[in-house]
Amino acid sequence: MKGSYLGEALPPYLSAHATQPDQILRDLAIETSALHTKYAGMQISPEQGTFMTMLTQLTGAKLAVEVGTFTGYSSICIARGLAPGGRLIACDVSEEWTAMARKYWERAGLTDRIELRLGNAVETLEAMSGDEEIDFAFIDADKGGYPAYYEALLQRMRPGGLIVCDNTIQGGYITDPDAEGNVPVMRAFNDQVTADPRVDSVLLSVADGLTLVRKR
Ligand SMILES: C[S@@+](CC[C@H](N)C(=O)[O-])C[C@H]1O[C@@H](n2cnc3c(N)ncnc32)[C@H](O)[C@@H]1O
Repeated sequence: MKGSYLGEALPPYLSAHATQPDQILRDLAIETSALHTKYAGMQISPEQGTFMTMLTQLTGAKLAVEVGTFTGYSSICIARGLAPGGRLIACDVSEEWTAMARKYWERAGLTDRIELRLGNAVETLEAMSGDEEIDFAFIDADKGGYPAYYEALLQRMRPGGLIVCDNTIQGGYITDPDAEGNVPVMRAFNDQVTADPRVDSVLLSVADGLTLVRKR
């Protein structure tokens, strides 16, 4: 991971000192980078995947929601951590990218636990009834959409439920006042979460920044 905000030596060391992904996740990472060379970097890192399985397990999640599925890496990590009988609702707009996800859900024996909802995730979330409370959520889609995903999810989370938000450090540029693109958008989102009296939150320097948000 050359050029990481953590320097050059630490990222591979951190990767090496986490439970390693199994053959299915390794094959998915290889197939993603072969087919979608330009976009392969959107996939979460192996140690983040291990961490997310652990977080899902620690939350005892029965109902989880993912915003941004791509080719399926994070969805497999979340689904594997669900409590018995648990479900993951996976939201994405791309039929093409999620076709690979479907193939790997099948291979991982997770088709009964994961339901794909194609379409703009804001609409998908707003269409969810509030009857069933969400225990665990992961936001990893277009950065401009984070405030809307966060709000729609928070209203449907159980007290004590956890929202995990990806890319909140933006490659280390989050503190650079001159950075453009997604950086100011993410900075505004980080400020919004920190000021929200409905939650407790912590921004972790895991991978590209992972904010854990626990509903009070
Ligand atoms: C960074 S990738 C997700 C990576 C994935 N979590 C993984 O581990 O491989 C972002 C995904 O968000 C999806 N996306 C973008 N805008 C969206 C929207 N409005 N609603 C739902 N998904 C969206 C994209 O199609 C893309 O697959």
